[in-house]
Amino acid sequence: MYYDSEARAANTSDPGLPFNPFKALVAPRPIGWVTTLTESGMVNLAPYSYFQAVADNPDIVMFSAASELEVHDGAISFGKGRKHSENNAVASGEFVCNLVTFELREGMNLTSAHLPDDESEVAHAGLEMAPSRRVKPPRVARTPAALECVVVDSHPVRHRGGDHLFHLVFGEVLGVHIDDAFIKDGRVDTAAMQLVTRMGYDEYAVLEKAFVMPRPDFDPVLDGMVK
Ligand SMILES: Cc1cc2nc3c(=O)[nH]c(=O)nc-3n(C[C@H](O)[C@H](O)[C@H](O)COP(=O)(O)O)c2cc1C
Repeated sequence: MYYDSEARAANTSDPGLPFNPFKALVAPRPIGWVTTLTESGMVNLAPYSYFQAVADNPDIVMFSAASELEVHDGAISFGKGRKHSENNAVASGEFVCNLVTFELREGMNLTSAHLPDDESEVAHAGLEMAPSRRVKPPRVARTPAALECVVVDSHPVRHRGGDHLFHLVFGEVLGVHIDDAFIKDGRVDTAAMQLVTRMGYDEYAVLEKAFVMPRPDFDPVLDGMVK
């Protein structure tokens, strides 16, 4: 079959499937569970699966926040409202990306609730936080790893129709809290962390199996070029 993504986005004709397969195909995606602080110092926490590492040395991550949805005459569309995480990160210049484990999955999901501006998702989800070292937003205490980030760039992205649909926020990682239990011989045992990743629809996957495959010509890590 051929799925017509453009027809789905423009709502012009039947794209070929009842649900958009995009997120089920570009999968799994890591979840950046983003902590920010409001102007008054309240902790905001929300999951973002349009989240990725985009460069290293210095290490840069990115999350993408859609505009808030609005309902007009029963139809849902993107409005002008911006999500708290994007607003707070850009205004304060800092955010923390917590990794989500299988154990933390329900708490993560609860923090995606749309709460009023003055209500923190942390209390809503009953989570414990721990201080960060070099940025003000705290980390989730039970996360196996949390990346402390400063915002280095942010911008809106337009679609072909010209509207701003989402905003990218780029953060340079200053340092990472890592649970010592997951460090073996100086390397992080990612598979042992049981990280939760996002797929399509209401599906998630747990990352629990790793395999090794050196590069054919040279390996920048093993050959000592990159540590
Ligand atoms: C697993 C998961 C991943 C999500 N990923 C995104 C995302 O990448 N971008 C986005 O705009 N919203 C995403 N959401 C929805 C936001 O978490 C939700 O809109 C939340 O209320 C935003 O909170 P904030 O306004 O405090 O930032 C995701 C939700 C879940 C459960």
